[in-house]
Amino acid sequence: MNELDQLVTAAQADFAAATTPADLENAKARYLGKSGRVTDLLKALGALPVEAKKARGAEINVAKVQVEAALQARRDALAAAELEAQLRAEALDVTLPGRGRGTGGLHPVSRTIERIEAIFGSMGFDVAEGPEIETDWMSFTALNNPENHPARSMQDTFYVDLKDAQGRWLNLRPHTSPMQVRYARAHAARHAGDIEQGKPMPEIRVIAPGRTYRVDSDATHSPMFHQCEGLWIGRNVSFKDLKFVFSDFIRQFFETDDFDVRFRPSFFPFTEPSAEIDIAFRSGPLAGRWLEVAGSGQVHPNVVRNYGLDPETHIGFAFGMGPDRLAMLRYGIDDLRLMFDGDLRFLQQFN
Ligand code: PHE
Repeated sequence: MNELDQLVTAAQADFAAATTPADLENAKARYLGKSGRVTDLLKALGALPVEAKKARGAEINVAKVQVEAALQARRDALAAAELEAQLRAEALDVTLPGRGRGTGGLHPVSRTIERIEAIFGSMGFDVAEGPEIETDWMSFTALNNPENHPARSMQDTFYVDLKDAQGRWLNLRPHTSPMQVRYARAHAARHAGDIEQGKPMPEIRVIAPGRTYRVDSDATHSPMFHQCEGLWIGRNVSFKDLKFVFSDFIRQFFETDDFDVRFRPSFFPFTEPSAEIDIAFRSGPLAGRWLEVAGSGQVHPNVVRNYGLDPETHIGFAFGMGPDRLAMLRYGIDDLRLMFDGDLRFLQQFN
């Protein structure tokens, strides 16, 4: 093997030993750089006579081309290896199942409210919604609950340190009863012409479900909870009608006839007489236990006046029930807080 063949073999071995592009560039410098071995050979040509220079030059060039070819081959090999490694590192397993988006579902309380709306809707009740931030007047005063009256403390109200444009104090409504007043006043205003002419006004029949707030928190109370107000005002709507409507609602809601209803005397400033409505199933896991499901009563004449109506001719009842409680009874949920934790393991059971 002559000296030039040895040089080519040495370069090939050096290039093969380089495992990174940086190593390879260093190895290249040793052969093709400014003072590399091939460069040195070419520089030495200058000292040769013309004929010898030609022959030697041609030989060195052959070697140089071989070194350059070896360099390029190794560069390509390293680049290919790097690409391969990168592809492996970023590999996607296209056989994995997709993550997708879960389909949403209705919260048990929303389901319950929809159910209440459907049942009362079938009995001719309208559905109304109103503000959760209320004025003092709507939450209390209009409901025959005068300022500084001790009955106001029946509700641990969240007062807001704000007044509305008319300078009235605001609160987070502690019940849906303000909706009696809002709905009845709007209804009375719509039929003011009839009322003035002494014509009978169409009956008010409405439910108003929504969020309510009180300073209260344990297994059966949450600071945010739901209520559904009911109001039926006509010429002669009585407790008998309340009993029928409410019993029929319970029958449809729980899909059973196997229960008793009891009206237990109670007090609310906005109704007189007032009653708590209890139900007891005659069979099933809750058999024989009286469960309180609503407050109710005949609307107080002062409240009917605040509706903008004459209490001599506009008589009826109101009730306020707890959809959260109804949902718990229907689904057998024993802790109210589960409903508002947002835990998907709980919520997915209803969808
Ligand atoms: N608003 C009452 C409460 O929150 C319930 C109620 C409504 C009672 C309507 C009578 C009539 O406890």
